[in-house]
Amino acid sequence: MTGILEELERRRAAARLGGGQRRIDAQHAKGKLTARERIELLLDEGSFEEFDMFVTHRCAEFGMEADRPAGDGVVTGWGTINGRMVYVFSQDFTVFGGSLSETHAGKICKIMDMAMQNGAPVIGLNDSGGARIQEGVASLAGYAEVFQRNIMASGVVPQISVIMGPCAGGAVYSPAMTDFIFMVRGSSYMFVTGPDVVRTVTNEVVTAEELGGAATHTGKSSVADGAFENDVEALIETRRLVDFLPLNNRDKPPARPFFDDPNRVDESLDTLVPDNPNAPYDMKELVLKVADEGDFYEIQKDFARNIITGFIRLEGRSIGVVANQPMVLAGCLDIDSSRKAARFVRFCDAFEVPVLTFVDVPGFLPGTGQEYGGVIKHGAKLLFAYGEATVPKVTVITRKAYGGAYDVMASKHLRGDFNYAWPTAEIAVMGARGATEILYRSELGNPEKIAERTRDYEDRFANPFIAAEKGFIDEVIMPHSTRRRVARAFAALRHKRLANPWKKHDNIPL
Ligand code: HXC
Repeated sequence: MTGILEELERRRAAARLGGGQRRIDAQHAKGKLTARERIELLLDEGSFEEFDMFVTHRCAEFGMEADRPAGDGVVTGWGTINGRMVYVFSQDFTVFGGSLSETHAGKICKIMDMAMQNGAPVIGLNDSGGARIQEGVASLAGYAEVFQRNIMASGVVPQISVIMGPCAGGAVYSPAMTDFIFMVRGSSYMFVTGPDVVRTVTNEVVTAEELGGAATHTGKSSVADGAFENDVEALIETRRLVDFLPLNNRDKPPARPFFDDPNRVDESLDTLVPDNPNAPYDMKELVLKVADEGDFYEIQKDFARNIITGFIRLEGRSIGVVANQPMVLAGCLDIDSSRKAARFVRFCDAFEVPVLTFVDVPGFLPGTGQEYGGVIKHGAKLLFAYGEATVPKVTVITRKAYGGAYDVMASKHLRGDFNYAWPTAEIAVMGARGATEILYRSELGNPEKIAERTRDYEDRFANPFIAAEKGFIDEVIMPHSTRRRVARAFAALRHKRLANPWKKHDNIPL
């Protein structure tokens, strides 16, 4: 008996060593943790339960039959994050460069199937040289099996990808179909075709970092939702995100103890909006002042900074926030901000996270770049996302809500539940200057007359009261009481029931 127990321990120890000490040292020398060290940091201490530790590949080509390390380059299993269950896979770069074989894929698929059945998020820690070259099409089939599960799991359980090394070729499409992608600065990259192929085909000379590093994907392409300094920070922040998310689409978002008075007033908000209607102010200040304990988990903070997206808590419950940012492009909507916010709203709706919208939007960004780029369809994504969302929706207009952008930003007409405005709100078809120049074109040669007409337009329309008279704004609220009003609104909506008509699925303008 003792011999058998020792045999198990011996096998376990060998499996834990992955590709061996030399390769573990090489991984550390690159500033990267091993697959198992990452899992240790991601999950609550001692909570990890491993599956398939002894699985080996079945490849007999290229002398592979003589090299069959236990685990086959991926560590899989489940554990908890602050006591809540998650499934995890962590690719082991020390074993064949973390490359994906048929059996490696099978291990990932197994935990994805279990996550779906048991209603728990899937977190993938990606560090892989891609398809296992020795396995050919068997590896491609493995990828496709994972892809299919990503698609089926979408909207059922949250899926998070953390890119902690190479992620290239078709391998990028599994993370691409998950809800959130995080990257580690300097040690992770994602691209469909690498720098060598790019140089051959397009003559562009570019490094891997420039082509697909964290800065590229968080700032330019918007493929990634956040970037962190190192493995440790990325894993800690992943834990923090999980704390905001429900475990599945039938679960409620988590509620946790809170120590911030929901009735807390903040007098400084009364002067947040400057006297000059064209002067910027930082909308993030409002988000932070409304949030429990000022805790805001921002998503895509380096992309389309004219709109802010992320999670806060009110009375301990997760809330998704979308807010125009007057500090960047005057807070206008454009292609990038519409796409960014639309995806975020759809995530929230899929997982029953209520949505809070702060509005200060002068309209859609004009220009050929926008029109040729399809701002019509991209803007429609946000409109569509808000309109189809059935989660509780609370909207506060702080200043401008002009034109089509007024309609788009969770207006009453898109089934906004509570639509509030600050006294500083200006709800109109367009700004006063633009409006008078169109209405009184014949007086354009007379600046004084135009100025008078502009003032008149401002007096009549640059306020929230006409919209309030029509019931499009439920109430004009004091800025200092925003947290209290918004918290009460969401509390009143906790049992909201609203369903869309039956359909196979919608046809959102992709
Ligand atoms: C098998 C692989 C491998 C792979 C790396 N290794 N990639 N083994 N299949 N795809 C092995 C190496 O042989 C090496 O083994 C170990 O992993 C570490 O690799 P190194 O090259 O020494 O590491 P590094 O210098 O850090 O470079 C990492 C790398 C490079 C950039 C990922 O290995 C690389 O370019 N690999 C090939 C990438 C690739 O072309 N993959 C296929 C892409 S196509 P030893 O024994 O020396 O430790 C694809 C299609 C997916 O993925 C389609 C899905 C639909």
